[in-house]
Amino acid sequence: MKKLRIGIIGTCRRGSLGDRYLTPEDNVEIIAGADISTHQLDRFKARIQENLKNTPNCYLDYREMIEKEKLDGVFVTSPDFCHEEQAVFALEHGIGVYLEKPIAITVEGADRILRAGYENKAKLVLGHNMRYMSFVLKMKELIDSGVIGQVKAIWCRHFISYGGDAYFHDWHADRKCANSLLLQKGAHDIDVIHWLAGSYTRRVNGMGGLTVYGDLPKREKNPEVPVETTFNTSNWPPLEQKGFNPVVDVEDLNMINMQLANGVFATYMQCHYTPDSCRNYTVIGTKGRLENYGDHHEDTTIELWDDRRIDAFRLNGDATFRTPPGKGGHGGSDPAIVRSFFSVLRGEGKPNSSPQAARYSVATGCLGAESIRNGGIPFDVPKLANYLEEYDYSS
Ligand SMILES: NC(=O)c1ccc[n+]([C@@H]2O[C@H](COP(=O)([O-])OP(=O)(O)OC[C@H]3O[C@@H](n4cnc5c(N)ncnc54)[C@H](O)[C@@H]3O)[C@@H](O)[C@H]2O)c1
Repeated sequence: MKKLRIGIIGTCRRGSLGDRYLTPEDNVEIIAGADISTHQLDRFKARIQENLKNTPNCYLDYREMIEKEKLDGVFVTSPDFCHEEQAVFALEHGIGVYLEKPIAITVEGADRILRAGYENKAKLVLGHNMRYMSFVLKMKELIDSGVIGQVKAIWCRHFISYGGDAYFHDWHADRKCANSLLLQKGAHDIDVIHWLAGSYTRRVNGMGGLTVYGDLPKREKNPEVPVETTFNTSNWPPLEQKGFNPVVDVEDLNMINMQLANGVFATYMQCHYTPDSCRNYTVIGTKGRLENYGDHHEDTTIELWDDRRIDAFRLNGDATFRTPPGKGGHGGSDPAIVRSFFSVLRGEGKPNSSPQAARYSVATGCLGAESIRNGGIPFDVPKLANYLEEYDYSS
């Protein structure tokens, strides 16, 4: 088995995804990393030296890394607004790309990435790790088995207790960098809704706004001081928080309705100031209903109701399926999706995620945000060109 030469663009936080789970059996070497921060590059180098016992080359310019290092693949784990430029550059150099979600922050940007992969016959894997979470896989298996009949409706409620800390203190809060948290967070869920329904959104509308974090104290604009995003439970209640990003113009409450091409109706609701965290999906079919309690953490179950009662609510269904998480980040989905990228680079497998699906989730999020910002009017999601829709980015 050939040793893969791998590079990382955006080396901290999510940037450890490519190296954190490596074992000698993977036969992968982290050759180099690129980051705009020398501080992060120093941390990256020390991490690789300590954990993997080699010294990676470090670059402040990702283009130099790609031009010099003869890489087989690159992880693009930089902030959302960098994805389009960096992925296109790597694909144009024929390098396989693992690209974090959201694929891009505009529909045009996502389409440009898909065209670059197609035109350069370069492999492209999207970081939709929820497609490897045990509770999502179980829901998909149950739906595909026909146990709830034909799916007609999917509702997802997304409670994000760490929203204020994680998304309103740095670039995530600025529309220019993230567009909307319907992409940054919602791209995952819209993608899961599409996957469970077996179709993509054709029409979307929404309501929502910046309802809590807009007027709270902001920090000084000082690029010299790195922002440490905290997940501090003492930052509570939300109205007591301070130190917000100098620009806060993304919504902290998003609600969109989706009409899918196959007739399924769906809704996604996201709130960034709840005391608890969960992605809670309800899937209603012609023979029953499914719902998950808990997501990729401990004690997650899926309840199935398929025995009709008159006027009674039961917390537990007629059948309960336990879906314990696997080992590793995000309930084991991180090591699983990383290994699927290496398999794709070796021509040995197909990932659960797809660039086309990632594009449709971003397109739905972009137009959902557009609707929220324009009084809730509906927008049609543009269809991808047929040649891009049908292309296999993993072969
Ligand atoms: N799939 C998941 O579960 C998951 C989880 C977290 C984050 N993400 C995604 O991963 C990406 C990174 O998120 P993060 O929270 O680690 O971001 P971050 O803001 O912490 O930045 C990551 C790194 O990128 C570097 N960077 C910034 N601009 C750069 C540029 N122009 N070129 C090269 N490097 C640059 C930063 O210095 C930092 O080291 C985002 O797209 C995010 O949406 C995905």
